[in-house]
Amino acid sequence: MSNYPYEYARCLDMEQIRESPQTHAHSMEGFFPLLSLTEGCGALIIILVAVWTGHYRNGFSWTHDPKLEFNWHPLLMTIGMVFLYANAMLIYRTQRDVRKRRLKLIHAGIMLFIVLLTVIALVAVFDSHNLVIPPQPNMYSLHSWIGMTTVILFCCQWLTGCITFLFPGLQTPLRISYMPIHVYFGVGAFVGAIISCLLGLNEKAIFALGENYSAFVGEGMLINFIGLLLIIFGGLSVYLVTQERYRRLPRAEDEVLLSD
Ligand code: HEM
Ligand code: HEM
Repeated sequence: MSNYPYEYARCLDMEQIRESPQTHAHSMEGFFPLLSLTEGCGALIIILVAVWTGHYRNGFSWTHDPKLEFNWHPLLMTIGMVFLYANAMLIYRTQRDVRKRRLKLIHAGIMLFIVLLTVIALVAVFDSHNLVIPPQPNMYSLHSWIGMTTVILFCCQWLTGCITFLFPGLQTPLRISYMPIHVYFGVGAFVGAIISCLLGLNEKAIFALGENYSAFVGEGMLINFIGLLLIIFGGLSVYLVTQERYRRLPRAEDEVLLSD
């Protein structure tokens, strides 16, 4: 005897699933619990990176102590390129009662603030190499290559986003065809930032702890834990921003086009 619901589910292709009334094409089910989990993970990551740099790596300073100046690099990168980045991507989905025009300004504004934090974080790490005696080389590691590519991609994305959707604002057909590219590279650079953090954490753990890393010291375990949290945070953020059913629908007072 055939198992009807099972056979039926197996035969459904994506088109049918999308059209099926049971799938709630724009249901917000699960969005807010997952968002709370994401924000909780993000806050914990920032707290733990602050504990790591502030306590285990002896705190913060600027140019007169390049070793302590370095500590601004991971802290500002996790606040900007990870936590604020995810929140800026998700703003159209989290702030559903706000007008689209205002959301565009907030989205672009947070992204610009991230550029500022990133510049300070990069000055900190370059100084920490150039101001020590003897000076250390720059841009030799895989971390720094992937990190710099991510930063360049992010800046290009910001410029093209402004030109297309804000000022001067391109014609509607161009906006519509650029939108999937904007979303793809926006999410892609976010994944690049998470990968950069993982490589940076691993590299720093090996540089700073040496043989002690394999002795399961507290600092090493803290670094590993931050890495795992970054993967969970990244996974949740990408899920929330790529689910079609959580996408913002145009409201009466919004501009006419979805892509606008
Ligand atoms: C927890 C997060 C991070 C940690 C622990 C960390 C750690 C480090 C370390 C140890 C260095 C010096 C060694 C080297 O050049 O590889 C460095 C340099 C660098 N990092 Fe990071 N990083 C983090 C996040 C990021 C992120 C998110 C980016 C960019 C998206 C980034 C971009 C760079 C770049 C471009 C350099 C090269 C600077 C130079 O050569 O002087 N880092 N980072
Ligand atoms: C580095 C900078 C930027 C990144 C990483 C980025 C990333 C993203 C991502 C991932 C989305 C998809 C959001 C969703 O589906 O809910 C998006 C949507 C959008 N972005 Fe950006 N963006 C950036 C800069 C800009 C700028 C400067 C503008 C200019 C206003 C802009 C305008 C838009 C618009 C209009 C949408 C469509 C929202 C919708 O209708 O759902 N973006 N962006």
